[in-house]
Amino acid sequence: MSDPLTELDALPLTRGENLTNLQAHILAEQARHPNASGTLSWILSALSFSGRVISAKVRRARIQSVLGTLDSENVQGETQQKLDVIANETLLRCLGTRAGVAIVASEENEEPIVLRRNHEGERPYVVLFDPLDGSSNIDTGGAVGTIFSVLRYDRRAPEPNASLLQRGAEQVAAGYILYGSSTILVLTTGNGVSMFVLDPSIGSFLLVADQLKIPKTGKIYSCNEGNRLSFPDGYQRYLDWAQQEGYSTRYSGTMVADVHRILLKGGVFLYPPTKKAPEGKLRLLYEGNPMAMIIEQAGGKAFAGPVRLMERVPSAIHQRTSVIMGSPDEVDHVLRHLA
Ligand code: AHG
Ligand code: MN
Ligand code: MN
Repeated sequence: MSDPLTELDALPLTRGENLTNLQAHILAEQARHPNASGTLSWILSALSFSGRVISAKVRRARIQSVLGTLDSENVQGETQQKLDVIANETLLRCLGTRAGVAIVASEENEEPIVLRRNHEGERPYVVLFDPLDGSSNIDTGGAVGTIFSVLRYDRRAPEPNASLLQRGAEQVAAGYILYGSSTILVLTTGNGVSMFVLDPSIGSFLLVADQLKIPKTGKIYSCNEGNRLSFPDGYQRYLDWAQQEGYSTRYSGTMVADVHRILLKGGVFLYPPTKKAPEGKLRLLYEGNPMAMIIEQAGGKAFAGPVRLMERVPSAIHQRTSVIMGSPDEVDHVLRHLA
């Protein structure tokens, strides 16, 4: 009788043809670091779990209220909650059970939440997130996302929150989940960028691209041009130049969706300072840094004005930043006009 295991081994599968889910990918990454305790893997699995839960909620965004009393969840009053609150609670609940998480900070919470000071885990972490990015697009069925950033907890810091105010360059992992026409998770742990698509029929994120590289160029810019007259002059000069060069524009109002498009197709995403938001609108810790890490790990560039975004030293957890990120050549074109 033939041995089924040997038969499987004999299948002519290359690595690219193998079926890999997120869990297997994370464990393979962990195995590359012989001293890894597995703590980070647990945190990433909590983030992926949150992503699956939020995805299910987003997919039912309008149905629950339409179903009314037919829907058992409605009587709990749960459907009355806004999706960004639900997404926030989902992340807090999923991360709260992971022993290796010392502090979580969310765009939705004024203050960070210190989960544990005396953690059993050897190398605890802090996790920061924007639970639902682009939430104003929910009502019209547009794409939304979740963004996360993982930093090491600094035991020696004088007070716990100091661990949150690290440069983006210190991030150990970052990623986002895009709830678009499919649910896509993009992750980096500092060794390139991997992309996974959620297969809802099996409830698993499947690896679709490893060592993803952003195109070097791409004649697309993504910014809220309605604010153009209040952009600093350099950005206006750049937009004049780009339009003369025949660039296209794409802008959805969800940073995750706009940056994801640029990661795959090339181009540049901009959120300049405006009169209304002189520091820029986006949050350095929840939006700027994690998206910048992804873009740089894919071979792109990310700046805040003339400085590398991930070099900015934060002074407050909800600090804002301006953003220029995307294909390396396209970011250079913007910087050239700012000079
Ligand atoms: P959030 O929904 O988390 O508040 O983020 C919205 C952000 C970002 O996703 C998007 O790029 C930007 O705000 C859109 O701002 P404008 O409406 O000013 O263009
Ligand atoms: Mn956001
Ligand atoms: Mn948000």
